[in-house]
Amino acid sequence: MEGVLVVMNQEMMDNITKNNLVFLATAAADGTPNVVPIGLAKPLDNKTVLLVANFMKKTIQNLKNNPKASVIVGNVSECPYQFKGSVKIEESGKNYDDAVEWAKSVMAQLNPFAAVILEVEEVYSVQPGPDAGKLVD
Ligand SMILES: Cc1cc2nc3c(=O)[nH]c(=O)nc-3n(C[C@H](O)[C@H](O)[C@H](O)COP(=O)(O)O)c2cc1C
Repeated sequence: MEGVLVVMNQEMMDNITKNNLVFLATAAADGTPNVVPIGLAKPLDNKTVLLVANFMKKTIQNLKNNPKASVIVGNVSECPYQFKGSVKIEESGKNYDDAVEWAKSVMAQLNPFAAVILEVEEVYSVQPGPDAGKLVD
């Protein structure tokens, strides 16, 4: 994915933060798509989203083979954007430690195995109408 580097604006970041859910799409090496709901997702800054890997199976396998992902927030009417970019899987370090702390503060039984770090490279509108599918720049 070689897009213009686009950052998220404050409204987009606020929407990701306040959403209870985002949808995370990945693709297997053979192209098979996979989409899952993820509750523990939040922006770290205006070009990075943290997703906590607690139960990801096909998702994490897909990302190991094909480290690209797309995210849409659950309340897409309020935040009609598609965030796309490259992913790093971090199994130690600050992001991982923060992910574990966050997950356990939400539900003590959770045992995250990785922080999935989405580096946003492209933001597209999904607003129905003339802007649908357009790159936001
Ligand atoms: C409401 C809801 C919230 C979820 N939140 C997370 C989450 O924060 N992290 C996670 O790893 N899985 C979460 N899951 C589980 C994933 O959606 C999914 O079941 C898991 O990634 C296995 O699917 P996969 O094999 O396609 O990756 C959540 C599921 C639901 C229904």
